[in-house]
Amino acid sequence: PEKGLKDYYKDYFPIGVAVNPRMVQPGPDAELIKAQFNSMTPENAMKMGPIHPEENRYNWKDADAIADFARQNNIKLRGHTLCWHNQTPRWFFTDSTGKTVSREVLLARLKRHITDVMGRYKGKIYAWDVVNEAVPDTGKSLYRPSKFYEIIGEDYIEKAFQYAHEADPSAQLFYNDYNTENASKRERIYQLLKKLKAKGVPIDGVGLQAHWSIYEPTKQELEESITKFASLGLKIQFTEVDVSVYPKEHERRARKDTDKSEFTPEMNDKQAAHYKMLFEVFRKHRDKITGVTFWNLSDKYSWLDNFPVPGRKDYPLLFDQNGQPKKAYERVVQF
Ligand code: XIL
Repeated sequence: PEKGLKDYYKDYFPIGVAVNPRMVQPGPDAELIKAQFNSMTPENAMKMGPIHPEENRYNWKDADAIADFARQNNIKLRGHTLCWHNQTPRWFFTDSTGKTVSREVLLARLKRHITDVMGRYKGKIYAWDVVNEAVPDTGKSLYRPSKFYEIIGEDYIEKAFQYAHEADPSAQLFYNDYNTENASKRERIYQLLKKLKAKGVPIDGVGLQAHWSIYEPTKQELEESITKFASLGLKIQFTEVDVSVYPKEHERRARKDTDKSEFTPEMNDKQAAHYKMLFEVFRKHRDKITGVTFWNLSDKYSWLDNFPVPGRKDYPLLFDQNGQPKKAYERVVQF
C-alpha cells in the first residue's frame, strides 16, 4: 500500500505494533511493519524471564534484534516491561537454597535488573513500561498481592520508577495496566497514580492496555478513562490494543452462539464499527494521547489464539491472516 497507518496518523500520534524476533527477519511481516507502523514494542523479548533468565546471565539476542530493526528503519521503540508479576523467573525471589529473599536483596536485584536492561538500550528506547499490572481486578486494595508486594511492600512501585529514572533520565516512564474501563479498577489505578504523583515519583504517563472486544468498551467508558487519567497530568498511551471478536470469558457461557472459531461477516462488520468508534475517540483526544500500539501484527498470529479459551482462534487486529487490510482498517484510516 502506498500509505500506511503511520502516515494517516502522522499529525496525531505514533502507531505501534507488538513484535517477536521472527517478525523482524526479512520477509512479509517485516515489510508490513515498515509500511504501516512507526513504533514497536517487543511482545516478550524484554520481559524479566526472557531477558534475565539467571541472576548472572542476560539473553540480549532477541531484544537486540528488535532494537536494531527499529533503529535501522527509523521506528520508535517502547520498552516492555521492567517489573511484573508474570513471566518473572523464580530465581528473582529465592536464594540458592530456595528460601525467599529479604526486602533488601529483592530491591537490589530489581535495581540491578532495571539498571542493566535500561542501560543497554539507553537512547534507543524512548518510553518504558516500568511497572505492569500492579493493581488487582477486584476488591478494595490498590496492590496486587504479588511477590514484589509481599516481599518489599507497596513502595516497590516507587522504587522501580526511581531506579528507572536513574538508569535513563531521558526515557519516559509509564505505569501500564488492563481493565482500565472497569469503574472500580479504574478508580483504584487512579488512586495509585495520584499517590505516586503526590510523592514526586518520576512517572510520565499511564499505559492503558486496551485488550478489548467488539462488545466493549463503550464510547463513554473510554472517554471517562482518558479524561480521568489525563487530569493527573500524565501522558496517555494505548499500549496493547486488540479487539477480540468474542465476549469476555465471564460472558461466554451466556453467549454460546458466538463461541465459534470462524471470522463471520457479522463479526467483521461489528469489529469495523467498533474500531471506527475507538479511533474517533483517540483522534478527538489527540492532545492527551501520545501513542497507540496494537498487540500483534495481523490475525495470522495473536496472543488471544487459544487464550483464554483453548482451541479457539481470534481475529482481533486490522490485518487478516494474509496480512491484508480488513474492513476495520478502512474504518480506521477514513476520516
Ligand atoms: C502476552 C504475550 O502476548 C504472550 O505471548 C505471552 O505468552 C504472555 O504475555 N498484558 C501485557 C503483555 O502486559 O505483556 C501480555 O503479553 C498481554 C497482557
